[in-house]
Amino acid sequence: MKWNESYNIGIEVIDNQHRQILDYINALEKIRVSGDRNQIKEVLDDLIDYTQSHFSFEENLLEQVSYQYLPSHRGIHDLFVKRLNDYRQKFDLGESVENDLYRLLSKWLINHIQHDDQDYVDAVRDNMLHYLRSQEQKKGKSWFSRFFS
Ligand SMILES: [Fe+2]
Repeated sequence: MKWNESYNIGIEVIDNQHRQILDYINALEKIRVSGDRNQIKEVLDDLIDYTQSHFSFEENLLEQVSYQYLPSHRGIHDLFVKRLNDYRQKFDLGESVENDLYRLLSKWLINHIQHDDQDYVDAVRDNMLHYLRSQEQKKGKSWFSRFFS
């Protein structure tokens, strides 16, 4: 899977994290054919851990900007984390889950980025502008225009 420009939501820190998840998905794709369970386990663990910390980061950000749909966005994350952990458990029980997991992740991530995540972009951006404007009032008028001239 290659990163496509249309996957960018325009918030750099989030875009970078999404790219990192895609790298992990690609690592899983590479390693899954090997059947080497130790290596698969390593990638699975990294991928699941990273995805969870990305979700926490995102939820924190959305909390700071008082995103009104945060509860449902968090619900989507929680459900997905539960599915990931189910897969991890099955893997631990000796099943080979890597093909199903690869399919799920590659579809889910792109869909989530392009729909659910895209929905909060305006709220985050508005809030940043609001924040910068309030800083401008504190610091003097020319400060704000330096960023948006
Ligand atoms: Fe999200």
